[in-house]
Amino acid sequence: MVSVKKLTIEEKANRLLEEAIIYYGDRPVGALAALDSTTEALNYDQCFIRDFVPVALVFLIQGKTDIIYNFLVETVTLQKQERRIDCYQPPPGLMPASFKVGSKGDKQYLDADFGDQAIGRVTPIDSCLWWIILLRAYTKATGNLSLAHQPEFQSALRFILDICLGPQFEMTPTLLVPDGACMIDRRMGVDGYPIEIQSLFYAALRSARELLIPNIESQDLINKINNRLGSFIYHIRAYYWLDLLKLNEIHRYKGDQFGESVVNKFNIYPDSIPYWLTEWMPDRGGYLAGNLGPGRMDFRFFAIGNLMAIISSLATESQSKEILTLIEERWDSLVSRMPMKVCFPAVDGLAWQIITGSDPKNTPWSYHNGGSWPVLLWMLMAAAQKMGREDLGDRAVAIAQSRLAEDQWPEYYDGKNGRLIGKSARMYQTWTIAGFLLAKLLRDNPNYLSLVCMDEDTEAAACNI
Ligand code: GLC
Repeated sequence: MVSVKKLTIEEKANRLLEEAIIYYGDRPVGALAALDSTTEALNYDQCFIRDFVPVALVFLIQGKTDIIYNFLVETVTLQKQERRIDCYQPPPGLMPASFKVGSKGDKQYLDADFGDQAIGRVTPIDSCLWWIILLRAYTKATGNLSLAHQPEFQSALRFILDICLGPQFEMTPTLLVPDGACMIDRRMGVDGYPIEIQSLFYAALRSARELLIPNIESQDLINKINNRLGSFIYHIRAYYWLDLLKLNEIHRYKGDQFGESVVNKFNIYPDSIPYWLTEWMPDRGGYLAGNLGPGRMDFRFFAIGNLMAIISSLATESQSKEILTLIEERWDSLVSRMPMKVCFPAVDGLAWQIITGSDPKNTPWSYHNGGSWPVLLWMLMAAAQKMGREDLGDRAVAIAQSRLAEDQWPEYYDGKNGRLIGKSARMYQTWTIAGFLLAKLLRDNPNYLSLVCMDEDTEAAACNI
């Protein structure tokens, strides 16, 4: 009798990842967003830059570096570098949200979407930030700076930095963005200065500084980066931080203060503290607020912003530990039956109508409105490992492992507890598969944490003394 060996969950996941690879000619250049053939493809048959990041990290750890090399080389050519003729064209520096391989006759070409085709015409600002973070990871994994040092790559970096560090209508060090400019690519009230973008911005600036060739040409840019990083880190650590102590402070804030050295700089009115938070904030732990602007503090917890703040050392060491403590203390809200919620809590009722524009996909506790996204598992694991809280990462992986393969690797889960498979979730979602594998790989090979993790920045601090 022939014995058929049962595949382990990792083996299954690895096979699926291989199946998702997109070829351009005979070269692997990316991965499909989902392998789901049962639902209308929309743009899930494309390679999204943000979705490709965990896939790329898995491959880098496994030593399959070719595909990342090809991906980086091809995406550089997609970046817009010329001045736009009209404002419907992408601005120079922007990287596409996604691309696919098209063909005319027997000739293939890459067709990129800069948000000009995307639902809602959202601008994918996170793409160029993830791209720099990935270029650094590639450089670290291969020990080879020569790709990043090629003139095309140096100029791609400069284009991105120009658009991020150029003049804007604002007077804070944070990056001002429109709604839906990141993984949450629909109206969700993440316009202005969302932590989801700020953490990536910080990690990208630090990565770019490592990748730029230090010469006369780039010195000005490096100075600009250091300048920005210094005030940026202060701004986030001081003004976005929320814990019980800070909440008490805001609770007793005086409004309408004028002048340079006032306490309530952003004129946050105590009445804007949502009732849920006064009950939910644990005695121990804290987190970075979702957004901060004039008269506006978004008190929701956003996962990517907080986890990436730990990974990139945007949060201080003690804040990083406290964020993980909060996740532990509020495990049932934030992780529950599937790691983990993209944001908490969901908005509902009139707030849902106003904030999402009555979006039927973003109903309370679904999709981007409090849905649970297994891809976030790798960031949770990386953040937990970095801070010596492997126990939290392990707990989360065990939950995911008990369901993901059986549920066919859904894109997201619904419900307050994340018990239901997302209403419109794709199956065999590539970054769900990669997120799981990556969490496992990082746990088994902690030395690879350095591909994404950063220590406390000493350079910018030194420049700002
Ligand atoms: C959805 C998600 C987005 C993701 C894309 C492809 O649009 O909102 O974050 O990149 O699907 O998976």
